[in-house]
Amino acid sequence: MSDQGIVASQPYISLGHRHEELSTLGWTVLTPDEFADDVVGTLHEFGPIIPQFNGQMAFPITRKPGYEDLPYSQSMNGIGPHTEAPVYGPPPRYLALHCHKQATCGGGHTGLVDGYEFLRVLERSEPQLREWLDDTPVEFVATAKPGEPGQRRVQEYILTPTPDGDIFRFSYNQFHYGDVNPSREALQQSQVANSTSPLARFAVLGEAYFVEHNVPVLIPDGCLLIWDNWRMIHARSRYTDPARHLTRYWLA
Ligand SMILES: [Fe+2]
Repeated sequence: MSDQGIVASQPYISLGHRHEELSTLGWTVLTPDEFADDVVGTLHEFGPIIPQFNGQMAFPITRKPGYEDLPYSQSMNGIGPHTEAPVYGPPPRYLALHCHKQATCGGGHTGLVDGYEFLRVLERSEPQLREWLDDTPVEFVATAKPGEPGQRRVQEYILTPTPDGDIFRFSYNQFHYGDVNPSREALQQSQVANSTSPLARFAVLGEAYFVEHNVPVLIPDGCLLIWDNWRMIHARSRYTDPARHLTRYWLA
């Protein structure tokens, strides 16, 4: 019997173990053979793709001129521990980074740590501070791009329970410089250094927890890192290789 006319379909690859990792660890890495060039279709299995600060569905993470002295995604600088887009209600549930070309300079890691676990530790070590977090909303401000006039500004709790899961918010840039994407002027003075406020204490403890416990992931070329942005704190280590190129997606 001839098989002419029968179109070979792509073999179905089950991503069940990746969903499992995402829910247990809070993050997972898909290898290129698991999504066979269909990044968007594969991401849809995890959630719908939503627009980012600039309205785009896919945001290039690569060096662009003008941000050399800013902790911004399109610079090569390190970016302190944070959850993505805390000014959104709700913030994106999952974040994905598709790596086209990873830095070969020894930097450019995506560090990940479990924010829920950090709060559990805080509950034992600093119960009063943990209670303060439940009682006190915190202001989050986001300029879409550093130096641009438009800002989103909200009051949110660090932990917000919802029927779909708890939303954890954290931003080194916010706590120190009053904006998720601080300007050069704002970077001149930290609001955490020399402050005795509960929020400053929380920021210092969160950074220390991140430094001690984060898993530094250097996404291999072609791979796709996905993490739970309601749960995990992430950060980026500084890099110097200008060829580094990723695409970022936000999923609802
Ligand atoms: Fe980020």
